[in-house]
Amino acid sequence: MAVVPLAPPITPELAKKIALGKRLLSWYQSHKRDLPWRRTLAGSYGVWISEIMLQQTTVAAVIPFYERWMERFPTLSSLAKAPVDDVLRLWAGLGYYARARNLHRTAQIVTERHGGVLPSDPKEILALPGIGRYTAGAILSIAYNREEPILDTNVIRVLSRVYEVSGDPKKSAHTQSVLWDLARAVIPEGHASDFNQAMMELGALVCTPVAPKCANCPLNAVCAANLTGDQERYPEIDKTRKWKDDEDVSIALQNDRGDFLVVQRPADDPLWGGLWELPRARRRPDETLEQCAARAAFEAAALTIPKAELFGNLKHVVGNRRITLHGYHAQIAGAKPAAGTGEWKKLEDFSGIAMATPQVRLVTKLKLSLVQGSLDF
Ligand code: ADE
Ligand code: SF4
Repeated sequence: MAVVPLAPPITPELAKKIALGKRLLSWYQSHKRDLPWRRTLAGSYGVWISEIMLQQTTVAAVIPFYERWMERFPTLSSLAKAPVDDVLRLWAGLGYYARARNLHRTAQIVTERHGGVLPSDPKEILALPGIGRYTAGAILSIAYNREEPILDTNVIRVLSRVYEVSGDPKKSAHTQSVLWDLARAVIPEGHASDFNQAMMELGALVCTPVAPKCANCPLNAVCAANLTGDQERYPEIDKTRKWKDDEDVSIALQNDRGDFLVVQRPADDPLWGGLWELPRARRRPDETLEQCAARAAFEAAALTIPKAELFGNLKHVVGNRRITLHGYHAQIAGAKPAAGTGEWKKLEDFSGIAMATPQVRLVTKLKLSLVQGSLDF
């Protein structure tokens, strides 16, 4: 790849001089969205929950989850006291369930060691499970108004454009470090909370990935990318996604009482740890789907199935993985509940256990083939 000659890079000292604060803060006051976690009712606890939810999920999708969560766990101590299964069930649908486990563990640690209030010391807060540099900065600045930077995709976009920061912020440690330094330098004294939220809001509403609305942007007079017409060059992220395609097979095993076998994912599975599902296996290159279904049954419960019948499939995307999930059904005459390997449940009782979204969708297809009589149940 040809090396593009670089203009002298921006320094934090120079960045400070542009005074983003006074341009951005009044814009924020009149344009900020009315979001539930901005109503300050839940304080640092609410900021923490919302920031964790918002990490891999859009604002629109998070709102109902946040509201339900705050009804069920209105305080940090109510979360600490709850059974982890309740926490996972309320999280079901948001994905990346390690986040929910970490919330629960952190609530317990904060209750035991910090008097039930999230610490406002950067070192102490960074030591908590599930809280990295971004979340720590968000809690410290938004909840406690401390001059700590945050750097999410929105802030990255705004800063890279305003200062024409070169390099790929997803890949280059140097670019990341430049951006963190800038994010810290531009915070106006005494206004960290509103300023950091304003940066995110500008990125979400005005400085959008495609066709930013520069004409309406409070930073347009000082934004390098706007002045040079190079907005869409920044941030210099390699946009060619490297998709990985997988095929998973789930087996709906039904015993002679009509119940189905569900198994629990191991706790250390970052995506679905602790969640329940129909036994599932990833198809190997040398396997047919039917063989994979048989293997899923065998691995989950040492059950050998006679024949499995396809009842449906669906596609879902997790990160860079595109997964096709195939659902098979098999009847096992006379099978006893398999001890220690899972539980046999009636389909109508599935709503009481935490399942990942693709599994819920697959079970819906299973129910559908049941009512439509397309399977020989
Ligand atoms: N995205 C991440 N954090 C956010 C916040 N506090 N408000 C709006 N969008 C966000
Ligand atoms: Fe983004 Fe345009 Fe505003 Fe610059 S002027 S920060 S590119 S919206």
